[in-house]
Amino acid sequence: MAEAALIDGKAFAQALRARVGEYAAAFAHQAGRRPGLAVVLVGDDPASQVYVGAKGKACAAAGMASFEHRLPADTSEAALLSLIERLNQDEAVDGILVQLPLPGQLDEQAIIAAINPDKDVDGFHIINAGRLAVGQTGFVPCTPLGCIMLLKDRLGDLSGLEAVVIGRSNIVGKPMAQLLTEANATVTIAHSRTRNLPEVVRRADIVVAAVGRPEMVRGDWIKPGATVIDVGINRLPPEPGKDRGRLVGDVAFAEALEVAGAITPVPGGVGPMTIAVLLRNTLIAAYAHAGMPAPEGL
Ligand code: GUN
Repeated sequence: MAEAALIDGKAFAQALRARVGEYAAAFAHQAGRRPGLAVVLVGDDPASQVYVGAKGKACAAAGMASFEHRLPADTSEAALLSLIERLNQDEAVDGILVQLPLPGQLDEQAIIAAINPDKDVDGFHIINAGRLAVGQTGFVPCTPLGCIMLLKDRLGDLSGLEAVVIGRSNIVGKPMAQLLTEANATVTIAHSRTRNLPEVVRRADIVVAAVGRPEMVRGDWIKPGATVIDVGINRLPPEPGKDRGRLVGDVAFAEALEVAGAITPVPGGVGPMTIAVLLRNTLIAAYAHAGMPAPEGL
């Protein structure tokens, strides 16, 4: 059989960012201000610093205002809650994102609960998780929303397809399963206690791997022709003579390529979608905040 098609998340994300940029300009023209995203980083986790920098740059490139708040690692919960309250009240701020993970002294759930759900562009607030659970409009976490966009773009109607989501995190696995259910797929959530995982995965027309274990899903777990979405971004130990190891997903890519119908590469698959969807969510928050109807087709 022919090699799997590559799902080009990078190109899809670029096109989405371009659309968001056009609408952001139209919004600024109508509303007299740019859509604004506040990004809060507590501490100096190197990966988080990279993500937060990338989010700020992407905002600027899409014609949005970015407000970065970098706080010391020993910030108290009271100080962070007071910043969030200020951002909740700030008319220039449409979206608020608190980069996770937070340092140990801070209660993540309490911090997220303090964000105004209408500014919760990450979709992490329990109000938004609840809206998703009951099928109401709300903010949906960026990574799974990006995955469902790629799947619908590739497959069209997902009705009746067997989907297996590996991983049950609040940020990816659970919302992913809900989005697939909403799209009329038959959904299984697999996780670390699942028995016979290879057999379960072999049923799937759609596999979404979101476990954070390098190359765990092997090629012979994949049903021929299945669509594989690899959410994992894992850095392998460096090879001799190299400073940094290779980035790999949760799927053994070369093996899966021989069996799948289509697959997202790592890097360049799901990764670029997350920030593009964050910008989209921020734009939608801005329209709602300004009392204007959101554009269709985002
Ligand atoms: N940490 C890892 N991914 C994310 C994300 O999508 N949003 C936030 N706020 N923190 C993260």
